[in-house]
Amino acid sequence: MPEAEFDRAKAKAFTQLMVRHLEGAAVSVMLEIGRRVGLFEAMAEMGPATSEVIAETAGLNERYVREWLAAMVCGGIVEYTAAEHTYRLPREHAAGLTGSSTRNLTSMVEMFPLMNRVIPEVAQAFRTGGGVPYSAYQPDFTGLMDRRSRPRFDELLFSAYLGKPEGIIPRLEAGIRVADVGCGTGHCITLMARRFPKSTFVGYDISEEGIAGARAAARGLDNASFVVQDIAKLETRAPFDLITAFDAIHDQADPAGVLRRIRAALGRGGTFLMLDVCASSELADNIGVPMAPYLYTMSTMHCMSVSLAAGGPGLGTAWGHQVATRMLREAGFRDVQLLERVDPANSLYVARSGD
Ligand SMILES: C[S@@+](CC[C@H](N)C(=O)[O-])C[C@H]1O[C@@H](n2cnc3c(N)ncnc32)[C@H](O)[C@@H]1O
Repeated sequence: MPEAEFDRAKAKAFTQLMVRHLEGAAVSVMLEIGRRVGLFEAMAEMGPATSEVIAETAGLNERYVREWLAAMVCGGIVEYTAAEHTYRLPREHAAGLTGSSTRNLTSMVEMFPLMNRVIPEVAQAFRTGGGVPYSAYQPDFTGLMDRRSRPRFDELLFSAYLGKPEGIIPRLEAGIRVADVGCGTGHCITLMARRFPKSTFVGYDISEEGIAGARAAARGLDNASFVVQDIAKLETRAPFDLITAFDAIHDQADPAGVLRRIRAALGRGGTFLMLDVCASSELADNIGVPMAPYLYTMSTMHCMSVSLAAGGPGLGTAWGHQVATRMLREAGFRDVQLLERVDPANSLYVARSGD
């Protein structure tokens, strides 16, 4: 078969695409530097300023700041007035780079250095199989997840995650038994325990750092407790009325087993709320969806790899709606409802035990 003619236009378009990817990668490095040294916060507070003033305000070296500013200007983050040699971070850009709301996207950027750190181990796993254990991402991972999730819980826990499924808030107000599996630093438990004093809450996580942080944050709350526990071995005598899992199922070593344990730990009429990444299980559906390359990258560099490292199936970050719904049904949940995109990145599964 004759080889297809080399399509020059296609090659040119691909080079342009590569250039955009390379620019994005370069800007992400500088975004992380800016986040770490507090330049966005410093610039958000000021109008147009020279590099000397910006460096002095931020307490940083001017030469480094000037080079960083050049990258930020060319990357479209900062505006530059050449005649005055002044730089300005527009308010609209500052909103996406500073503050403690979910609009601040720099916690997504913070993932890259951690993922870069495990490139040798992941590359090795491509050759030999296996994966990268959770321990390889510590001690940074727990704090990083906390910074990413905290604003989401502050803004959306009551209005969306607990508020959108019918009937959950009234039951929490009346007093029920609740568990959060893979609770990390337990911020959502602390929020719920304060808001619903008649309910009792327990958080489970394998991370000792996470549980230590959770216990410290919940000090003084009588209705919240935390246990270092592998949820694949979860056993409870008294059943729960509500179990939650926020971003904690798809990277499990035994996700099917964990879902069965969760189902078994629920009493009659119990509900499992599972927040997980909004994606289709079919790659073809995800092409062109914003952030899809980010999902598959985080999956390769963390979510899939930690599961494979522990002998698991490596479902991956984009295991998706179809697979997740099927697995919930196979675990014994009768009624599985999918609330798509309850936040910009996640869907909520409302799985009822149906007894
Ligand atoms: C992606 S983080 C999510 C943490 C938290 N739910 C949040 O939204 O910020 C997943 C959490 O699950 C925990 N985890 C993973 N496998 C676990 C297991 N088998 N048993 C208990 N916790 C586990 C990890 O330590 C981590 O804290």
